[in-house]
Amino acid sequence: MIELINKTSAEIDGFTTNSKEELEQFRIKYLSKKGVIGELFSEFKTVDSSVKRECGQSLNKLKNAAQEKLNSLKEKLEDNKEFKSSYDDLTRPAEGVEFGSSHPITIVKNRIVEIFSKIGFTVSEGPEIEDDWHNFTALNLPKHHPARDMQDTFFVEQNPDLLLRTHTSSVQVRYMEKNEPPMRTISPGRVFRNEDISARAHCIFHQVEGLYIDENVSFADLKQTLLYFTKEMFGKSKIRLRPSYFPFTEPSAEIDIYWGLETEVDHKITKGTGWLEIGGCGMVDPNVLKNTNIDPEKYSGFAFGMGIERIAMLLYQIPDIRMFYENDIRFLKQFKSVL
Ligand code: PHE
Repeated sequence: MIELINKTSAEIDGFTTNSKEELEQFRIKYLSKKGVIGELFSEFKTVDSSVKRECGQSLNKLKNAAQEKLNSLKEKLEDNKEFKSSYDDLTRPAEGVEFGSSHPITIVKNRIVEIFSKIGFTVSEGPEIEDDWHNFTALNLPKHHPARDMQDTFFVEQNPDLLLRTHTSSVQVRYMEKNEPPMRTISPGRVFRNEDISARAHCIFHQVEGLYIDENVSFADLKQTLLYFTKEMFGKSKIRLRPSYFPFTEPSAEIDIYWGLETEVDHKITKGTGWLEIGGCGMVDPNVLKNTNIDPEKYSGFAFGMGIERIAMLLYQIPDIRMFYENDIRFLKQFKSVL
């Protein structure tokens, strides 16, 4: 009997098929009541008690193997069927492949990073939740300084020393604390101000700020760097620096670029002047250098800051800043970039 069991087992092991009919025949042959295994079980009743145990175990194993074979072949045939039905029409149009695209803020940020990296600026980043020192005090804005009101701040209620950074100048403070001049770095990132949301302003936006510190850095270097940037970024080669005030730079200036007055849009966005403001800049105040352990007798530097949304709005003629944050797929789809 053992021999018969082994022979049947080998047959079952070797069996395979791609046809449903053959599989059904397999089932009838081995697993039906009158099938081979059923017969073996009938025979089993009469075997000698000395081999009963061994035969019983083998027989059970055989039955399980047959059942498993049946199940797995059945499954395979069903899978095949599905596969076939969705792919058998070779003239069917292909399914569209949706490519994602970068967010316009990311595209513009990457472009700015690329432009400044060509002239040796690294990229530095820092935390969005800042302490008072890095966002204000180190930047020559001690507590109760009226200029703190220039940037309406979100504070962390549980800890009055913590706030959402109002500019990425805080990253530059961290950078100056950790590095020695010469240093050239830009800090792109998200900033927060407690402002009413409108088409032109949002409480969350992005900035990129630049910093250059070395011996003998002058205002002329600042101007040339900004000119290089506006040429690369906008293809415009006329800028003007208007005297202004920031607590952390002295002297300070507002950066305007000459956009031109060729089209109606030019008139509209420059309010008929041809000039557009894109950011602030100035020579780093000696107090800021001192606060970050840089010797103001030996070193000088410049800093500048710009809004990324504003630049993106200019480049892509986006009329409303809120569009950047709504994640409307119809808006996002329009920006394709390899950057
Ligand atoms: N931090 C300033 C702001 O957010 C911008 C700025 C940076 C101005 C560096 C001057 C120098 O408004």
